[in-house]
Amino acid sequence: MLLKNKTAIITGCNKGIGKSILETFAFNGANIIACVRKESESFNELIADIRNKNNIEITPLYFDLEDFDQVKAGVASIIALKKSVDILVNNAGIAVGSFFQMTPIRDLERIMKINFTSQILLSQGLSRYMAKQKKGSIINIASTAGILGDSGMLSYGSSKAALISATKIMAAELGQFNIRVNAVAPSVTKTEMYNQMEEKARIKLISSSFLQRAAEPDEVANVVLFLASDLSSFVNGQTIRIDGGMN
Ligand SMILES: NC(=O)c1ccc[n+]([C@@H]2O[C@H](COP(=O)([O-])OP(=O)(O)OC[C@H]3O[C@@H](n4cnc5c(N)ncnc54)[C@H](OP(=O)(O)O)[C@@H]3O)[C@@H](O)[C@H]2O)c1
Repeated sequence: MLLKNKTAIITGCNKGIGKSILETFAFNGANIIACVRKESESFNELIADIRNKNNIEITPLYFDLEDFDQVKAGVASIIALKKSVDILVNNAGIAVGSFFQMTPIRDLERIMKINFTSQILLSQGLSRYMAKQKKGSIINIASTAGILGDSGMLSYGSSKAALISATKIMAAELGQFNIRVNAVAPSVTKTEMYNQMEEKARIKLISSSFLQRAAEPDEVANVVLFLASDLSSFVNGQTIRIDGGMN
């Protein structure tokens, strides 16, 4: 029960790593504002099931990170709930492979918007609220792609590198309000995103991990749990790699 009586906002929690974070946080007693792009029957069933199993509150909220007006409306809806806002996990994201010379700028702008700019917009709105409460923990889901500089990852890698840089800057500016900001950088993790990767790229990443395998979503969620909880109360401005060890 590491998150008892805390309220966590998680984006993109209908599947993959976000779903695993939702389940892990619920199991640890958090009440959750579950942000997804759009309502679906399967998501309604998922949150009803998690709610019943863990006896916690889950409030669904719908907005598309590609639309700044929707993100701003999302922030307003969260604040209107008048709950404490203890944890924000910026998880939602997209991955598109692209070589530098062949990346259309429009595609680069789209991925930056979803993976970076909207995360900043959401964090700006919610950190103002956290600052008034004098507490908070923000966790950005980055990627080893933002650290390694593999070819073919121009848009995705740059968006995650920007998020890693922002993590340090946000931590430096928000520390005075008792808000911690950290990131995790997973390598290949078994989700839909992993299934959509080119097999060659996936095999290359798996074989460069000392553990010679991909991560399970739970293995990422457990590190996010640590960063969200008071167990990490003096960890700030860090990016924790979850890659099984890599040179
Ligand atoms: N899997 C990996 O190997 C891996 C490795 C390193 C980092 N990551 C990062 O981990 C995070 C989660 O990825 P995942 O592997 O769990 O991927 P996933 O299974 O594809 O899930 C991505 C999530 O992001 C949401 N999303 C995408 N575009 C959105 C938008 N415009 N507005 C709102 N929500 C949007 C998706 O919603 P919909 O269902 O509506 O599309 C979904 O909930 C991402 O930030 C990703 O970059 C993943």
